[in-house]
Amino acid sequence: MIQIPKGCKDMLPSEAYLWQTVEGIARETAKLYGFKEIRTPVFEHTELFSRGVGDTSDIVTKEMYTFLDKGDRSITLRPEGTAGVARAFLSNGLQGGVMPFKAYYLISAFRYERPQAGRLREFHQFGAELYGSAQPEADAEVILLANRFLNSLGVGEAVHLELNSIGCPACRAKYAEALRAYFRPHLDKLCADCKVRFEKNPMRLLDCKEEVCKEISAGAPSILDSLCDDCRAHFEAVKKLLDGKVAYTVNPRIVRGLDYYSRTVFEFTSSALGAQSTVLGGGRYDGLLEQLGAKPTPAVGFAAGLERLLMVMSAVDVPTAEQLPDAYIAGMDAPSRAYALSLAEELRGEGLLVETDLMDRSVKAQFKYAGKLNFPVVVTIGEEELREGAAEVRNMFASTSERVKFGEIAQYIKECLRR
Ligand code: HAM
Repeated sequence: MIQIPKGCKDMLPSEAYLWQTVEGIARETAKLYGFKEIRTPVFEHTELFSRGVGDTSDIVTKEMYTFLDKGDRSITLRPEGTAGVARAFLSNGLQGGVMPFKAYYLISAFRYERPQAGRLREFHQFGAELYGSAQPEADAEVILLANRFLNSLGVGEAVHLELNSIGCPACRAKYAEALRAYFRPHLDKLCADCKVRFEKNPMRLLDCKEEVCKEISAGAPSILDSLCDDCRAHFEAVKKLLDGKVAYTVNPRIVRGLDYYSRTVFEFTSSALGAQSTVLGGGRYDGLLEQLGAKPTPAVGFAAGLERLLMVMSAVDVPTAEQLPDAYIAGMDAPSRAYALSLAEELRGEGLLVETDLMDRSVKAQFKYAGKLNFPVVVTIGEEELREGAAEVRNMFASTSERVKFGEIAQYIKECLRR
């Protein structure tokens, strides 16, 4: 038997309603803030991610699914959604359009990571991006969208917002020096990756999962002490706008795993998850669009991992219910079954979820199937019913049965369901 590739998961019909619930709430919430859906390709030119996501991030250096296509182009399966949206904004000439530009997406993304609970090689994201505003109100609005989404899902109590500012390139250059001064005496004890990070992007040192590096970095200086006046004022304004609307903790160690961020960064984490505790992450990235060739365009956004959200929902027992079917039509013999098929089509035309026998089962077995799937109404048709033009309709809730004329069955079922 061929196995599913490592780090991937099938979404089975029995759990489809859960995914659809999350996706439905994502769409509804995004709509409330004026965000419209965008769909971009699953793969892009590799350069988009190496330039956009950044060549000091783990994602670009270790985790991308990159291959040469038949035309010898280097292609990469998207490891995230932000870079593709930025590329689409530029390639479709949307820079000249109405600002702010607001878009959301529901996508699959691919990272060659070591799989564990909450960490997959193919995973799914709900993300939102806002371009054209450098105002703290834009940061606040995106965070409030994320917060409303999590609350509407029923996991508001199980997650917590952690907020930080990583400043502008000037603040980060100052911070990089402060970090180098701090880490230099410990350089020989750091892991091989961190030795490279020390040279290329010392802020990444704070993100290392190796115990030794974690211990050393515990006493590292805080980015908040390196912020310039403008970045500090921006961060204060964002916090003020959020005060009273969403609870948060300032965590100066949130640096995010992608290189494009500037100023505000945030993560919603959950103690209901294990090591992979971040369900949603995002921030401002004022330099990305310009780096990809646009005129300077400030931007802010987030993405939530759907698999991790579903794990939190299940851990805190968020009540979710699959939509029940409406009616099952049982046929006693071949002509009745043929009629059942026509009647089912007619009822579906009335918007009812109807099934009928496709397995040549006995009536008894058909009833058993209807019971197993919890059909609230069961319509039975036999020779006599066909002759009379009326079927036996059983309301399973009330345990009552009635003869109902074929032409009146749709109405009758709707009344049963209303009760
Ligand atoms: P990210 O933090 O890399 O940010 O990913 C966002 C979320 O995707 C994570 O918080 C997590 O829930 C989920 N996620 C990431 N990797 C995996 C994985 N291997 N398995 C399962 N879930 C995963 C971004 O992707 C940015 N593009 C977010 C953003 C949008 N920033 C601004 N705009």
